[in-house]
Amino acid sequence: MPDDLRHLPYNLEAGDEIPSNASANPTFTEIATARLGRRGMLMGGLATALTGFIGAGTGPAAAQGAAPAAAAGPAIGFKPVPINATDAVVVPEGYSVQVIIPHGTPLNGQPATRSVLEMTGAEQLAAVGSHHDGMHFFPIEGREPDQGSSTDGLLVLNHEYVAPRFLHARAAGMSIGAARIPLVNNERPADEALKEINAHGVTIVRITRGADGRWAVANDPRNRRVTGATPIEIAGPVRGSALVRTKYSPNGTRTRGTLNNCAHGVTPWNTYMASEENWAGYFRNLDTRDGQPLRAPHNARYGIPTTAGRYNWDQVSGGGDEFIRFNASSTGADATQDYRNEPNTFGWMVEIDPFNPNHVPVKRTTLGRFAHEGVVFAPAREGRPVVAYSGDDSMNEYIYKFVSARPFVRATANGALLDEGILYVAKFNPDGSGEWLPLVHGQGPLTAANGFADQATVLVNTRGAADAVGATKMDRPEWGAVDPRDGRVYFTLTNNVSRTAEQVNPANPRAQNQFGQIIRWREAGDDHAATRFAWDLFLIAGPANDSRDASGAALGADNMLACPDGLWFDADGRCWIQTDIGEREQNRGALEPFGNNAMLCANPNTGEMRRFLTGPTGQEITGVVTTPDRRTMFVNVQHPGATTSAADFAAGRINSRWPHGGAGVPLSATLVITKNDGGVIGT
Ligand code: FEO
Ligand code: CA
Ligand code: CA
Repeated sequence: MPDDLRHLPYNLEAGDEIPSNASANPTFTEIATARLGRRGMLMGGLATALTGFIGAGTGPAAAQGAAPAAAAGPAIGFKPVPINATDAVVVPEGYSVQVIIPHGTPLNGQPATRSVLEMTGAEQLAAVGSHHDGMHFFPIEGREPDQGSSTDGLLVLNHEYVAPRFLHARAAGMSIGAARIPLVNNERPADEALKEINAHGVTIVRITRGADGRWAVANDPRNRRVTGATPIEIAGPVRGSALVRTKYSPNGTRTRGTLNNCAHGVTPWNTYMASEENWAGYFRNLDTRDGQPLRAPHNARYGIPTTAGRYNWDQVSGGGDEFIRFNASSTGADATQDYRNEPNTFGWMVEIDPFNPNHVPVKRTTLGRFAHEGVVFAPAREGRPVVAYSGDDSMNEYIYKFVSARPFVRATANGALLDEGILYVAKFNPDGSGEWLPLVHGQGPLTAANGFADQATVLVNTRGAADAVGATKMDRPEWGAVDPRDGRVYFTLTNNVSRTAEQVNPANPRAQNQFGQIIRWREAGDDHAATRFAWDLFLIAGPANDSRDASGAALGADNMLACPDGLWFDADGRCWIQTDIGEREQNRGALEPFGNNAMLCANPNTGEMRRFLTGPTGQEITGVVTTPDRRTMFVNVQHPGATTSAADFAAGRINSRWPHGGAGVPLSATLVITKNDGGVIGT
């Protein structure tokens, strides 16, 4: 555990965002207790909160006449798989699974000649990265994100982080957990750090289906890696700001690398957006005043460590500039002589054109800076603004929406549309209404007098701006998804064990929330650019006695889940829900009954939900997409074996050997799921 986390009264996973919202924003407590009474909120618990504010299975969207309540919704035809705690992938009867592109797979289509443990940092650059996460299948025609070939395309996927003990051969026999590997003579060996940096980022790899139905990597000039070191442009209002000037880019227009890429987004103009989620911990700031840590307000609000970075990358022996930059202390005469501003160049959404290997990725700063879980675009409409939603995955953080200034015109649309527009943050009122609060310099409290000198400052300190306007603190916003049939927006809120009884509210109705919920809303007038919306809770995850599906029923053996994270709608409107029960909780305590992390499929109309897949030991299921014909589904398995204790690792007792078995280290990889009768996945 990083030193900065040791003082906290609850456990964080390796790499989880450090909670840092000390704002006094209302948490609904006053309003909620005024309406229900304190006893109603606390003693009546979930049922009171839900029926009192929302009403099981109806809610404000329905009250607006918005929900197509009578419709049957998409067909779900498979037999649910049971909860399991074994080191295997389980799919329903009649379905098959192939494992492709495990970490370390060469991008040239040739078989791997060296194991992940044997690879060098340079070799990692030419191979699939670690910790697979958000993902999209771009049909090879390269015209529309979801139309074209269902047998040939560019698979683009994020690599969220690394597990040094499963990456470096010298870790064998050491008593180390999921985070750091010990330093050597107080330094990081340079190639270890390079290998870790190159295992981060994004993979773009062409995959094709052979005549035998098996998928394989195809050598292609577009196959490439974007890593934690790739040059990246900075665009939008922050470009050129004094806040992003560094020794590497004295004019503040570029940075190197993208890190902790969690979920993703797909633009209407067929490019990929990689998120930067738990990036703050990769840096450290050793500045002090009077013996106390000294950090700029935005560094403190984002939890930049004051002792050691997550992987000690700034401590590489003979460290080159590409490593030193992870030391965000003020070591030079001004910001162009050091990397005090390097953290300000992270926390953004990064646009990548998978079809152009010469394209320099772009950080689109108008979408805000926080622990971006991902971004989800509303369906683009000709002549209307481009709208995208994004969650900040940390306890008590916010949900945001971007609305472009210029309209979407399909013939000419490109990433520049993301450089001008308004970033809003969500306020969820207890009565089921909601408001989008603009984060615009000069409006409301976002003035120079309050520390927001210009729009670049507002965006670099997005969290501080959201605090100032009075956004609603949520239970860790993760993935969002838009139902293609009715435009309703869904967001997973994975858990929040730090929420106190005094902080519960109708949108986040449980204290010490271990299980999570899914919130959804409908924009006023069905206009995604609207500034008001109506919300309800789609799902309360948890055990039978503390859960509720969209029909109002308790969850049971076929659909019990905890900690919803990944979320995606297929074109028929099936809602796919992926779980990420943390490593310390998996198969233990209150989370023990949920087994290994899993993926479920829900019908948003009826609330029907079934467990579709369970994963191997220690992993999370994350990332899901199908081919355009919906007959092949890709799903990622991330960090198998992560629940292996430090002592067991030292003794060689690794609790997952997935996917290769034998004595191999566990590896993240992609599942290819098909129905044996060739049918649509989920039917
Ligand atoms: Fe990277 Fe919030 O999951
Ligand atoms: Ca996630
Ligand atoms: Ca997660």
